[in-house]
This record gives sequence, C-alpha cells and structure tokens, in this order.
Amino acid sequence: MDNLINNILTVAGLRKNYKGKTAVDGVSFSFSPGEFVGLLGPNGAGKTTTIKMLTGLIKPSSGMIYYYGIDFYEKSQKTKALIGVVPQQNNLDRDLTAYENLYLHAIAYGIPKALRREKIDELLDFSGLTGYRNRPVKQFSGGTMRRLVILRALLHDPKILFLDEPTVGLDPQIRRVIWDFIVKINKMKNTTILLTTHYIEEAERLCKRVLIINNGLIIVDGDPEQLKDGMGRFVLEVYKDDKVDEEFFDSRQEALAALENSTFTAKVRGVTLEDVFLRLTGRRINV
Ligand SMILES: Nc1ncnc2c1ncn2[C@@H]1O[C@H](COP(=O)(O)OP(=O)(O)OP(=O)(O)O)[C@@H](O)[C@H]1O
Ligand SMILES: [Mg+2]
Repeated sequence: MDNLINNILTVAGLRKNYKGKTAVDGVSFSFSPGEFVGLLGPNGAGKTTTIKMLTGLIKPSSGMIYYYGIDFYEKSQKTKALIGVVPQQNNLDRDLTAYENLYLHAIAYGIPKALRREKIDELLDFSGLTGYRNRPVKQFSGGTMRRLVILRALLHDPKILFLDEPTVGLDPQIRRVIWDFIVKINKMKNTTILLTTHYIEEAERLCKRVLIINNGLIIVDGDPEQLKDGMGRFVLEVYKDDKVDEEFFDSRQEALAALENSTFTAKVRGVTLEDVFLRLTGRRINV
C-alpha cells in the first residue's frame, strides 16, 4: 500500500457474495495512472461483478477500493468524477440522436450548461462521429453505437475508463475500429483503461498488463508477452487418434526439429494466453 496516493486505483481483498455464490473471492491489485489493463476470464469468472463494484453499481461484501488513496465509499462524489463506465449492455436511448444522448449524460454528470455543447462537439470530432451527431441512434450500426457509448463515458474527462466486454458481438473488422479508438483514448488523453474480455486476442493485442480471473480469483497478473515467454513461445501440437498432445519450445526451430521426428500429424503454432490459462486451470477460456 506504499503507493496508495500515487496509484489511481488500489483494490484490497475485494469480495462479492451473492446468495449461495461467491462471484468475486477477494481480489487485490493496483494501477498506476495511464496503464492499459485487461481483465481476462471465461463466462461467469467475476469480471462484470468486479467492474460493478469498482464503479459503485453494487456494494462489495468486503474489501477496500481507493482512487488516488481516497476511500471510494467514504468520498463517492469526489471519486466518481474520476471514473468513466462503458457497461456490458448498451443503454443508449435509441429514439434520441447522438447529440441528445450525450447531452443527457452531460446533465447527469453536472457538466455546466455553457460547456456542454462544446464538449460534446469536441468529443464527436475526436471519435470521428461528427457526421452522426443529429441522427437517431436506432439508425446506427452496432459498432457506431459502441463508439458512442465509449465517447459518452468520456464526457466528464474521467481519469480511468472501465469497459465491460467492449467488442462483444461485433464483427472482427469493427472490433479493430473499437480497439483503435480505445488505444487512442489511452494515448492521447492518458486515460487509465481497464477492460474486461474473454477474447484472448483482444487482451494480447491491447493490454500491456493482463489480470486473468477464474472463479472469482485473480490467478495471473502480468505482461502478456512475459507470461507467454514463461511458457516457451512455440507449441508443437501432435494429433493422436482422439487427443492432441502439446509440447512447448523456446524457438520455432526447436519445435520444427521435433516435428520432423513425429510420425503423427502435427503443427507448430505460437503460444497464446489461452495456453497460460489452460496450464493454470486445466480448462479453456473460451469453450
Ligand atoms: N445478481 C446476481 N445474483 C446471483 N449471482 C450472480 C449475480 N450476478 C452474477 N452472479 C454470478 O456471479 C458469477 C460471476 O458473474 P459475472 O457476471 O461477474 O461474470 P463475468 O465474468 O462477467 O461473465 P460473462 O463473461 O458471462 O459476462 C456468475 O456465476 C454469475 O452467475
Ligand atoms: Mg460479464
């Protein structure tokens, strides 16, 4: 806890019990300002529950949350101003235009009337959505709606942005547009990012740091590249009758050399965070 005041977020022993079910089982971590962190885990691991506690939507059963050393529950007005939230469910008003949706949010977040219009137009420009300003949201594609929800979360200049499964259900091509947008926010505004995902590729590509969550516990916290290095960078998959054997190697050459000696069908591929997860839990993230 040495850096409590310098860390934008510090979480200690955070837990949530629902009736007969522990959704989050005592997680602890801290983020420096400007970090880009992924919370990766399978369905039901506790990702949304964690985000909901960190953003004040639900109360933890126990544990502490500090933003820059300030107790989230003692000073929620002050700390909430630091937080932007992009929920898992899209909650835009489909009958209103992009501008109207943003305007309502600006009111809710206490942005002074004189600044609202300027702030909204500046962000529409930042996200390339100016052309959608006066169109009803129901005419938007899924990807454009997503960008608007993200943009809306930025209106009050949060220092940390929480995104719950920001690209779920989107085409791979649109997913990339959203990735670029989130990276731009992190780089240009230095906003700290915590996104949840169950997409391995999303965590690997975007996040400099990944927390892997399983059954409400964080089982790994590290740089995806280093985590993969720890496994060996290449996998030889050997297809035997009804099973696949996997062997790990530090270089492609070594894996290919082993492949040459194999009498079974086999292939070499790069290590992924799925391999890290599988080794630790015995199961896959995406089944
Ligand atoms: N309101 C609730 N009441 C009871 N159990 C709940 C409630 N909300 C979540 N849970 C349970 O807590 C666990 C964690 O759920 P959570 O939604 O946090 O997972 P998740 O990692 O976000 O999953 P997904 O990838 O499906 O979004 C699950 O077993 C879920 O069924
Ligand atoms: Mg969820």
